[in-house]
Amino acid sequence: MRLKGVVLLLALGSFSAYYVYEPIPDEIEQPWKLMLTSSLFRSLSHLADFSELLGLKDYMGVMYFITLAEWVVPVSDEHVQVTEEHFDGVEVVLYQPKQLGGDPELRSAVIYLHGGGWCLGSSRMSPYDLLARRMVTDLDAVVLSVEYRLAPAHHFPVPYEDVYRVVKHFLQKGVLAQYSVDPGRIAVSGDSAGGNLAAAVSQQLQQEPGHQVQLKVQALLYPVMQALDLNTPSYQQNRDMPILPRTLMVRFWSEYFTSDKALFWAMMANTHNSPESAGLLKFVNWSAFLPESYRGKYNYSAPAVVRRAGGEGATVDGPSQSIADPRASPLLVPDSTLRSLPKAYVLTCEYDVLRDDGIMYVTRLRSAGVEVTHEHYDAGFHGALMFTVWPTDFLIAQRMTDNYVRWLKENL
Ligand SMILES: *[C@@H]1O[C@H](CO)[C@@H](O)[C@H](O)[C@H]1NC(C)=O
Ligand SMILES: *[C@@H]1O[C@H](CO)[C@@H](O)[C@H](O)[C@H]1NC(C)=O
Repeated sequence: MRLKGVVLLLALGSFSAYYVYEPIPDEIEQPWKLMLTSSLFRSLSHLADFSELLGLKDYMGVMYFITLAEWVVPVSDEHVQVTEEHFDGVEVVLYQPKQLGGDPELRSAVIYLHGGGWCLGSSRMSPYDLLARRMVTDLDAVVLSVEYRLAPAHHFPVPYEDVYRVVKHFLQKGVLAQYSVDPGRIAVSGDSAGGNLAAAVSQQLQQEPGHQVQLKVQALLYPVMQALDLNTPSYQQNRDMPILPRTLMVRFWSEYFTSDKALFWAMMANTHNSPESAGLLKFVNWSAFLPESYRGKYNYSAPAVVRRAGGEGATVDGPSQSIADPRASPLLVPDSTLRSLPKAYVLTCEYDVLRDDGIMYVTRLRSAGVEVTHEHYDAGFHGALMFTVWPTDFLIAQRMTDNYVRWLKENL
């Protein structure tokens, strides 16, 4: 009996040590808080794997708990009027400054796209709700937070197309007038997967002739920019970093396109490129687009290109068209498409698998002549800006929010 107890204690001890302790880089502030936060995420991820294995609930279904845990009902307060609407059939949460009477002056607007790997997250999570209110009061802006549909129930391009429909609907002169929005002062912005959608929709709008209203700026917070090379130096360096380890990012990418696990495994091995995407690898060549300081000790080798016509692994062929689609990977466009894009703000974090996605976009936008403000956080980790709510509140989130909102104030 005694022995059993000891074994149980040892097992529990190593279990919690495994879950809680993980090496955190020295630069990161509040390391214990991050370790605890990360252990919650990882426990949930293991539970999700287990649940999927047992056939109870699929992985993302369990991970969605993260979204539900921070769910709020957005309500009006003394400064902000909040309404839930449908724009061209897509749900949006609309935040407007409260009018003190008289004819309202024209205001700026921010179309905001939440993160969560296209599979998780919601406008109705408290960090997004708080950020929207902050933008309304600090910028005197109308904020449109888009509740696009999510994978895996809705694979690419549904989440993207939902966003595009909302943006097209909003950018009509008549609709803008209804909300007292100045057509010359509209931003699109988002974090992580939301940054991906923001970049993609900015490109798509420029390519469509004859739209009435142009975006003034795009603000991308640690955006996901490409699915072709999942072994950039930042993917290698931050493979096991808290919040977004490489496995989870690969999982998000593969679930965005398909529920077929073959793509997940091919992406894990970075062997998911097919002849369709091979010609586009030049657009994500980090040897060319990453400054020396970020390339570090890593030597470039181009991802393998695998032909999968029939035979084993042939199922990966299905989404290969989508993988090469710039609406999913906005880095995959030529300079001629980048040239006409609005002024950009790009935030990147050192301890983030997506660091190099953002930096490569900065390099490519600048060489195409687009004005870019690049803010890189040496002590930053993925998702940091959204950690504003107790008990997972981080000091760095406040600094990031302040700088981001200040940039919008000065440039929108
Ligand atoms: C990547 O860029 C380097 C030079 O920076 C070049 O030598 C190499 O051929 C390029 N590879 C691809 C796949 O574009
Ligand atoms: C990169 O290449 C150099 C020169 O060939 C070599 O000395 C170094 O060990 C390589 N680094 C890695 C991480 O493979």
